[in-house]
Amino acid sequence: TASPNAPFYQSYDLAADLYHHILVNTKAGQPALKYLEQRGMTRELIDQFKLGFAPSSDDHGILAQFLTEKQVDYQVVRQSGLLTTDHDGHFHDRFVDRVMYPIKNANGQIIAFSGRLLAAKGNDQAPKYLNSPETPIFNKRLTLFNFDEAKRAVRQEGHLILMEGFMDVISAYGAGVKSGIASMGTSFTEEQIQAIQRISNELVVCYDGDDAGQNAIMRALQLLTDQAPTLKLKVVQMPSGLDPDEFVQQRGPEKFQQYLANAEETPTAFRLQYLRRGLNLANQNELLSYLDTAIRVVAQVEQPVAQNLYLKQLADEFNLDQATLAAQLSQVEQQAQ
Ligand code: UTP
Ligand code: MN
Ligand code: MN
Ligand code: MN
Ligand code: MN
Repeated sequence: TASPNAPFYQSYDLAADLYHHILVNTKAGQPALKYLEQRGMTRELIDQFKLGFAPSSDDHGILAQFLTEKQVDYQVVRQSGLLTTDHDGHFHDRFVDRVMYPIKNANGQIIAFSGRLLAAKGNDQAPKYLNSPETPIFNKRLTLFNFDEAKRAVRQEGHLILMEGFMDVISAYGAGVKSGIASMGTSFTEEQIQAIQRISNELVVCYDGDDAGQNAIMRALQLLTDQAPTLKLKVVQMPSGLDPDEFVQQRGPEKFQQYLANAEETPTAFRLQYLRRGLNLANQNELLSYLDTAIRVVAQVEQPVAQNLYLKQLADEFNLDQATLAAQLSQVEQQAQ
């Protein structure tokens, strides 16, 4: 007696095999294969992640045709999210002309896809990555890309590494860092945090080295501290202008591994640096207002030794008396009580 979801898993398996076959064995897949190779994807990585290509078609689409040939149940097809229905009631492929990234659940079963455009197309509104809709087997809020593999890697690497995108996780994997996971384009959720906590007590946040990435680190840290106060958090900021994928491709696996090991900072150190972005600290008012904010951030740190360390750094940096900073910290702490 198969579970009622079995036909959905089967359909996603069929689709992933078809897209992978098209990418690696057919003429229609050649531009996509070339694109992936140009991005540094080896054949090994393409196979490991079962990357594929969804071609365009003059008809209703190659997957629509394939699922019909395989006589997959109408209701399953309808609810699978693999196809869409057009005005005259025909099924059409949802993914057309896109590089396909299968997404798996914690057990390693394929439950969704994300499809990437080969190139941004002029002025049309098509999103760079198109994701499967929610289905009986795909709950976006629960899903993390590469979670099943990362689960195995935690024992060896000692943590999970949260990244922004599929390519970041895949390139890191190719560089020997297999504990990478990515939330699914949507923002990071409570359910994903619970999943993380079930398999690791340490999480490294490693987002893109741009403004959007820094803002996203702040939001993720806030959510993580609220939802998972016992989870040990670290931050690795990528060099400006690079995401983890670009880092690996431009500087190589060894440099990437070294960087992850050496650039780790505490969430507090990250916050202190984030909060001073764009400020003119030569201006006394801005400096005082920054120090006030910084001391409030330090007040949230639990360990007195760590508090002392941050105060010392602030004192050194701005040539201030550490005891005075400590006095203001006590004031803030008393007000908070
Ligand atoms: P990025 O814009 O950083 O993309 O978005 P990326 O991961 O570097 O992708 P490449 O290198 O251009 O291929 C980060 C993540 O946000 C989601 C995807 O999960 C992406 O990996 N995203 C982005 C979407 O879901 N839709 C989009 O249109 C764009
Ligand atoms: Mn039609
Ligand atoms: Mn980004
Ligand atoms: Mn990228
Ligand atoms: Mn990116």
